[in-house]
Amino acid sequence: MFWQAKMIGRQTVNEKKTALVTGASRGIGSTIAQRLADEFFVVGTATTDAGAAAISELLGENGTGIVMRIDDDVSVKTAYEWMADTHNMPLVVVNNAGITRDNLLLRMKEEEWLSVVDTNLNGLYRIVKPALRSMIKARWGRLVNVSSVVAQMGNPGQSNYVASKAGIEGFTRALAQEVASRNITVNAIAPGFIETDMTAKLTDDQVQQMLARIPLQRMGTTLEVAHAVSFLVSDQASYITGVTLSVNGGLHMS
Ligand SMILES: NC(=O)c1ccc[n+]([C@@H]2O[C@H](COP(=O)([O-])OP(=O)(O)OC[C@H]3O[C@@H](n4cnc5c(N)ncnc54)[C@H](OP(=O)(O)O)[C@@H]3O)[C@@H](O)[C@H]2O)c1
Repeated sequence: MFWQAKMIGRQTVNEKKTALVTGASRGIGSTIAQRLADEFFVVGTATTDAGAAAISELLGENGTGIVMRIDDDVSVKTAYEWMADTHNMPLVVVNNAGITRDNLLLRMKEEEWLSVVDTNLNGLYRIVKPALRSMIKARWGRLVNVSSVVAQMGNPGQSNYVASKAGIEGFTRALAQEVASRNITVNAIAPGFIETDMTAKLTDDQVQQMLARIPLQRMGTTLEVAHAVSFLVSDQASYITGVTLSVNGGLHMS
């Protein structure tokens, strides 16, 4: 599939640094985009024109929505060309977009495996590499990769998703060492059980079983994850790199 990214939004030179947030049309990414918009000009991505337009509407003067599929080289390239042309090369990148295609491995179709790994893990390669050059030039950058509590805990029925998220955490530690000398930090956030469309797919039984295992006895909110991302991209977190910050209500303690 070759999706042509259609750009919606203004084309201006901004005073603020630009933050790219993938998967900003809903859920955790939407809240991260709104949270970062106080300090950064936020470019938020969606997979549809309608989603991109809604992001532009939500962010107003503080950002814009664009269409970008992280599982599509052409779409990512087109989006980066637009960011370069409009002086919006990001110095902050939040790799939030992600998908699940749950199944027991014995029943898992190759497409279910490949689509999750290609989106969640290969997408990271596609998004991060083109952003690094401008961060190195600026001698400042912040990368935050959204993992999951299951990267460390494991979860039956999610071998594809867990493998992709564990890969994200390893990538985070490796890249953090590669670019630290350029004043670029690379960290991961591992949310637990957060109220979004992704967890709305779970049955009542699954939700009750999960809640019984959470010491704080509730699901987390998207804002609680966004606060953690906001901290990691701030100057207050300038000496933190290569870590995975858990936001999971105590569900897993390592
Ligand atoms: N919710 C949780 O409990 C939880 C827990 C741990 C980790 N996480 C992680 O947190 C991140 C956000 O989760 P969420 O619950 O907010 O998910 P969500 O509500 O399902 O939203 C997913 C976002 O990713 C975008 N997206 C999906 N496929 C894409 C693709 N191929 N290219 C670009 N964007 C794509 C979607 O865009 P469209 O709207 O255009 O489809 C949407 O903005 C994910 O990485 C997820 O693995 C979530």
